[in-house]
Amino acid sequence: MTQPVQISFTETAPDRLATHEGRAALILGADGKLPGRLPRALREAVTRALDSRAGKALKPGQALELAFPAGLQVETLLLVNLPDGASVTDARRAGAAIGARLGGQHMLVMAGAHKRAGDIALGLALRGYDFDAYRSKPDEDETPQPRVTFMVKDPEALAKSAADAAALAEGVFFTRDLVNEPANVLTTSDFADRLLAMRELGLEVEVIEEKKLAKLGMRALLAVGQGSESPSKVVVMRWNGAGDQAPLALVGKGVVFDSGGISIKPAAGMEEMTMDMGGAGVVAGVMRTLALRRAKANVVGLVGLVENMPDGRAQRPGDIVKSMKGDTIEVINTDAEGRLVLADVLWYAQQEYKPAAVIDLATLTGAVIIALGHDNAGVFANDDALADGILSAARAEGEGAWRLPLGPSYDSLIKSRLADMKNTGGRAAGSITAAQFLQRFIKQDQPWAHIDIAGVALPPSATDLAPKGATGWGVMTLDRLVRDRFEGK
Ligand code: BES
Ligand code: MN
Ligand code: ZN
Repeated sequence: MTQPVQISFTETAPDRLATHEGRAALILGADGKLPGRLPRALREAVTRALDSRAGKALKPGQALELAFPAGLQVETLLLVNLPDGASVTDARRAGAAIGARLGGQHMLVMAGAHKRAGDIALGLALRGYDFDAYRSKPDEDETPQPRVTFMVKDPEALAKSAADAAALAEGVFFTRDLVNEPANVLTTSDFADRLLAMRELGLEVEVIEEKKLAKLGMRALLAVGQGSESPSKVVVMRWNGAGDQAPLALVGKGVVFDSGGISIKPAAGMEEMTMDMGGAGVVAGVMRTLALRRAKANVVGLVGLVENMPDGRAQRPGDIVKSMKGDTIEVINTDAEGRLVLADVLWYAQQEYKPAAVIDLATLTGAVIIALGHDNAGVFANDDALADGILSAARAEGEGAWRLPLGPSYDSLIKSRLADMKNTGGRAAGSITAAQFLQRFIKQDQPWAHIDIAGVALPPSATDLAPKGATGWGVMTLDRLVRDRFEGK
C-alpha cells in the first residue's frame, strides 16, 4: 500500500536551515517573528514577501513560496501563516500546503513551539499522498523518496502523539488506495485478500464465500453478483479492544464495479464506478487505524463485496428476490444494487453481533450529489444521539456531513405491487428512499445511521487534505466517533 511520508521530529537548530538542501518551510506564528539566526539577506527577502500583496492576503493555513532564497541552500522556502491559536482544521491545511509541495525532496519544517505542530504533520502526511502504482518510473532507484524533518521545541512529546496520527494516516491511505484501484485489479477476491492480510495487525478476519452466503439466505446480495465472473463475498473484520462490550458495527457497500447490470449505465463516466466499493473501503480503513493504534473499543466491520455486471445469468429488472431477513424485493432497476447488498449484510450484522450501534457507509445514490454536491456526505439516522455523534465527529475532523430526513411518507414510495418492497422509489428524494429501503432491514430499537458518501469519496478535484482522487472521507470521522463515544467506557 501507499505509505505516508516518513516524518521525524528533532530539536530546533536554526543553523541547520542555512545548510539544508531540498526544501524548507517556516511556520509563522501569531507574533509574526522570524526564528532567531536567519541570514540577513534572507530576513529581508522574507520581510518583503510578507509585506507584498500576496503576503498580506495570506490566510491562516496558507503558504507563500519563495524560490531560491538568498543565503540558503534550499530551492524553495515556504512561508506558512498559522497563528498560534489557529484551529485544528487550519493547522492541517497549513500542513497540507507543505505536503502538496514535497517534490520528492527532503523537507525541513521549522515549527518551533507551535501548539499545533502535530496537526500540521498530519495534514502534511495526508496531502502528501500520491497513488503512483501504475505510472511507469524511469528508474526505480532514482525515484526520489521524500522525507520530512520537523524542528520543534519538544520532539519527544510530538513523536508520541505522532504515532496515533500515523495510524490515522495509514488508515486513510489504505482506503484511498482501495478506492483508486481499477476493477480489473481490485476484484472481490483481491479485496478480500487485502483484508485477510490485516490479520497481521491483530484483527480477526473471516471471509464468507458464496456457498455459505446462500446457506445464510443472502439472496439479495447474491443476486447482484450473479452476473459477474468474480465470486461474491462478505468479509468480517473484528477488533476486540474492550472485553465483552457490545460492538459498534460498521457495514460497507463493496461493489468493486457497478456497470448498472442489465439496467446498464451510460458510457460517459462509467469508469468512475470502480469507486463503488468506497463504503467498504472506509470500513477497512477504519479497522486498520483501530488496530494500528490498539483502540480500547469493540468494533466489527462487515463488507459486502460484489460486482454488478450484465450477463446471461445476471438478475433482470422485474425479478423478485428474497432477502436474508425474509422480506421479498421487486428489482425494478438492477442499478439500484447497493441497497440489495446492504440489506443482507445489515441483517447479518444485527443477527450475529447484537451491536450497540450500526453505521453503514455506501456510495449509494447519485441523488445525494444533486442534494449536497461534493462537500458533504448525507447522514440518515433513526437515533438523534448517534446522528449528533457522527455530525460532531465530522465537524471536529473537518469532514463535511449533513443530516437528511427519514419518514413514513418517503417509505411509502417503495411499496411494490407484487412484493414486500421495490428497490427504487422514482426520481423524487432518491437518497431518502434508498435510506428508507435500508431502514426496513434495521430491527426495532437498533440505533442505526446510514452515510451516503457518493459525493465525497471521489470528488472531481483535489480537497484540502487530498490530491485529486479518492479522499478516504469518513476514516477520520469514524475514528473520532470511536474515541469519543465507544472507547474507555
Ligand atoms: N453506485 C451508484 C451511485 C453513485 C452514483 C455513486 C454516482 C457514485 C457516483 C448506485 O448504485 C446507483 O447506480 N444508484 C442509482 C439508483 C437509481 C437506479 C434508483 C442512481 O443513483 O442513479
Ligand atoms: Mn448502481
Ligand atoms: Zn452502485
